[in-house]
Amino acid sequence: MLNGRDVARLQKSEYNYLMSDKPDPFSAPFGTLFSDHMAVSTYVDGDYDYPGAAVPLAPFSLHPGTHVLHYASECFEGLKAHRQVDGSVAIFRMEDSIERMLLSIAKLRATPPSADLLRQLIVDATTANASSTPEPPGSLYIRPTFIGTAANIGAAATPSREALLYVINSPVGDYFPGGVRPLTIYIENDIPRTTPQFGSVKSGANYVMALGPTLDAKRDHVADQVLFATSDDITETGASNFFLCDEDRVITRNLDDSFLHGITRKSIIQIAHDLGMEVEERSISVEELRAWSEHGEMFLSGTAAVIAPVGKVITRGEYIEVGDGQPGPTTRMLREALTDIQTGKSEDKHGWLTHIESP
Ligand code: PLP
Ligand code: COI
Repeated sequence: MLNGRDVARLQKSEYNYLMSDKPDPFSAPFGTLFSDHMAVSTYVDGDYDYPGAAVPLAPFSLHPGTHVLHYASECFEGLKAHRQVDGSVAIFRMEDSIERMLLSIAKLRATPPSADLLRQLIVDATTANASSTPEPPGSLYIRPTFIGTAANIGAAATPSREALLYVINSPVGDYFPGGVRPLTIYIENDIPRTTPQFGSVKSGANYVMALGPTLDAKRDHVADQVLFATSDDITETGASNFFLCDEDRVITRNLDDSFLHGITRKSIIQIAHDLGMEVEERSISVEELRAWSEHGEMFLSGTAAVIAPVGKVITRGEYIEVGDGQPGPTTRMLREALTDIQTGKSEDKHGWLTHIESP
């Protein structure tokens, strides 16, 4: 039971969720609802063991000296299952997430599972939880996670000999409170999001590094997100990739190890090609962004963010409106094209959907 102090600490929406009989993914903050099953595999000394089925969601009991708690031996994935127009449920671009997670685990210098095992965990958890998939624009967020679990505070320079690989699900609505609305982004010119060699790893350590600049920008500039542009090189925000677009072109940073290789980014590039648009993958400077704001559009892309329009940019104390400050037509068109594929409204011509069997 919550006491008065707990309630005071909760945001109103979290409180409403906890107090309601029917949790609503559209009013609960993104990621605060959990479906009631998970799939868990245990790693010890080179071998992954999996009982072969999802189990009820339950807390783990960890020794206070557990490796991940001290040395951040953690990485994760974020993908979604969507309710289809025919009522069934399908996972979007699961194979791409599996590939990226195996790379992340390898970059932690831990032993990756086989792609088959990770696929089985994702499918088992998501199948067990499929009935908790909200209707669009909601979805069932899928969170595969790897943590080093050896109780060993001396292992600062060695990978954990034990680990848990698990998948949980969260019914979600919009990531940014307030639905699809023009976002305000703050350009951080000096502090990098993470280190150059770890940018493409989806590791919790990267997110805590971005937290300080993000909280400062929220407090000082009422920004929704920080766009990292160290050495005038615009890469990504704390939780999404970044695009410029106009009616016949999309532009985004070319891939290297300094930022996360977004699966939504890759999907938008493919959709733009399919629509006959030009695609430019190259560096973008703050000066180009400033000039672009006078005639073009900008958006963020990510599994959680989907395609989120940018209405205002703050750089070195200057507030720049993007176009008329409202979501532009190309941004809205690309968002619809993407979500139509995810929900089975339009043809899945690239084989991006994995259909879940009813349990
Ligand atoms: N960059 C960062 C830092 C992210 O957290 C995300 C979200 O996952 C992305 C980019 C976009 O990646 P994806 O489209 O695969 O979700
Ligand atoms: C995602 O889009 O899947 C992310 O990982 C963003 C997350 C920080 C909510």
